[in-house]
Amino acid sequence: MPRPRQFLSLLDLSPDELTRTITRASILKTLHLSGEIFEPLKNRSLGMIFEKSSTRTRVSFEVGMQQLGGGALFLSPRDTQLGRGEPVEDTARVLSRMVDVISVRTFEHDKLELFARYSRVPVINALTDRFHPCQLLADMQTYAEHRGDICGRTVAWVGDGNNMCHSYINASRQLGFKLRIACPEGYMPDPDILQTNGDAELVRDPRDAVEGVDLVVTDVWASMGQEGEQAERAARFAPYQVNAGLMSLAHPDALFMHCLPAHRGEEVTVDVLEGPQSVVWDEAENRLHAQKALLEFLLVGPA
Ligand code: CP
Ligand code: NVA
Repeated sequence: MPRPRQFLSLLDLSPDELTRTITRASILKTLHLSGEIFEPLKNRSLGMIFEKSSTRTRVSFEVGMQQLGGGALFLSPRDTQLGRGEPVEDTARVLSRMVDVISVRTFEHDKLELFARYSRVPVINALTDRFHPCQLLADMQTYAEHRGDICGRTVAWVGDGNNMCHSYINASRQLGFKLRIACPEGYMPDPDILQTNGDAELVRDPRDAVEGVDLVVTDVWASMGQEGEQAERAARFAPYQVNAGLMSLAHPDALFMHCLPAHRGEEVTVDVLEGPQSVVWDEAENRLHAQKALLEFLLVGPA
């Protein structure tokens, strides 16, 4: 049996496949907004395992499958056998004999990889501690819709060297933009991920990172699972807040993105989040369209 395509990180698609999927997302968006019914996934099912909370990812996958003519099942560890200790390998083998594609949100990236090794059907990373590739599809679609091709542009990542930062590093490699990363000491991205990317550079001062860039991106200072570190992180990250002063150093046409949920007054001030450079609501909406394009790519093939 041939191995199914997976989407565990942005590196699982070629640069060309990624670009086409992002372009396709905008086409599916137009189609949907025009009221056209497009159901290439009739009778197909998505199993969605969520071991962490979610609003955007869950709703966009569930509604996306519905719009494409298929269905989705929300599987929480609280009421599946996975939560009672049934091995990941067994769950993957059983589920993948019943559904056509599976999304997994969990803590350890290794667990997702193990799941994917035992799955007969495509597995999608719906966020792990290491990567959040679905969010990047939406971010890149949003950039393209507002400003055109991101290739050759410069992006600043300000804040925690977390799963989102790692996915920006991968996106920079795949889509050809420069990335400047400003994180406090001790909260840098994984050097192994950084090493695979020639166009990402670490910058000590967030003001240097943001100088003249086309896009400024941040995320919460304490990710899911790090709630106990919140106070300590708030103190360490205070100089990395994205506020009007920092945004003023970017290119005047620069956009601001945040995967959400956002903590106003912590990593971003309310005037930036709600300001004219912020595209966070389009970014959130595009989760739906981008993941529809991904599902179509994995289940039907390139459009
Ligand atoms: N950005 C994002 O993944 O949001 P959720 O945690 O609500 O899915
Ligand atoms: N870095 C955040 C992203 C949430 C969508 C987290 O992992 O909690």
